[in-house]
Amino acid sequence: MNEKIVSQFPTLTNRNYLASCSQGLLPASTSDAITAYHEELRANGINWDAAMGMLERARESFAALIGADPDEIAVVSSVSHAISAIATAFPDPLTGDEVIFTDFDFPTVADVWTAQAKFQGKLHVIPSEHGKISPASFEDHISEKTLLTSIPHVHYKSGLKLDIKEIAEIAHRKGSLLFVDAYQSAGHCPIHVKEMGIDFLATGTRKYLLGIPGIAFLYIDKKIADTLQPSMTGWLGKGKKDARKFDTGTPSFISAYAAKASLDFIHSVGVRHIAAYLEELRAFTVQYGRKKGLRLYGAEEVENRTSLTAFFHPRAAEVVHKLQEKGIVLTAKENIIRIAPHVYNTRQDIERAIDEIVQLPE
Ligand SMILES: Cc1ncc(COP(=O)(O)O)c(C=O)c1O
Repeated sequence: MNEKIVSQFPTLTNRNYLASCSQGLLPASTSDAITAYHEELRANGINWDAAMGMLERARESFAALIGADPDEIAVVSSVSHAISAIATAFPDPLTGDEVIFTDFDFPTVADVWTAQAKFQGKLHVIPSEHGKISPASFEDHISEKTLLTSIPHVHYKSGLKLDIKEIAEIAHRKGSLLFVDAYQSAGHCPIHVKEMGIDFLATGTRKYLLGIPGIAFLYIDKKIADTLQPSMTGWLGKGKKDARKFDTGTPSFISAYAAKASLDFIHSVGVRHIAAYLEELRAFTVQYGRKKGLRLYGAEEVENRTSLTAFFHPRAAEVVHKLQEKGIVLTAKENIIRIAPHVYNTRQDIERAIDEIVQLPE
């Protein structure tokens, strides 16, 4: 473990922090950037040009992270906003009218699509079986009537990663577009939108990208953006081409300052390095949790798992609350406890957290 990395996260001095699937820790440089934004406002008031410049640099940095051109990135406020922006941008007549998503998707995906009058009765959910969704399910469900298929890169509960390239090949062969929700992968899983065949990708910055809420990025492949007409729109998107036409109004500048600094941090460590390090922590978490008698949530296979690991616990929320009092930060969802390390964590962090979980009565 790199001491230099740990030293950049002051929160670690009094927290065993394993909740990056919910909110990542802020690098010191991100805290400094947030302060700098506030100082500029306090000292000078208006700071439009500086703030718009920072927003552009955040956009460029995110584009570089996923192998896209900055013109292919729209700045939005949340992943929900990004999905709504796409769902309301298809001009009539539609090239297909069905939309498919999965039960691995974060609930907001269903919420947004269900709210679209245009797609009433046209939504299909691919169910997971035994904790996974096989490419064969996509073969079965996607048809020539499918306009768009939505998948998460990583399941927010089990940490299971989907094979985007394989699913993209199936979707495209059948004429469907592919939307990827990368909120649980961006920052720790390598992403290359062109190599993976992704048409749309959205993520916010507050999880593994180590930023704060208020900003999200929406990638739209250039050729596809030309065919869309945004109806969630505004003055900053007016007259723009490519994904930039999906910019709307003044964004949360403070979030853009944080995003730029956090993306710089991620680039400086390198996503490949982060992924390799977290693969070691993943293997350790699964092995140590099982050794201590915890039951793994999701598919039993370890391939395609990320470092987000969940274990069943009948009193998950209560245990998470008790551990919080001891400075151990985890998250609960229904009857599972999620352990979500990042590059700033160690095996000892995971060992201590699991030891504490199993000490409490079931
Ligand atoms: C995979 C995934 N997608 C979407 C969201 C929600 O994003 P937003 O609140 O930006 O709409 C979350 C969690 O907050 C998530 O884990």
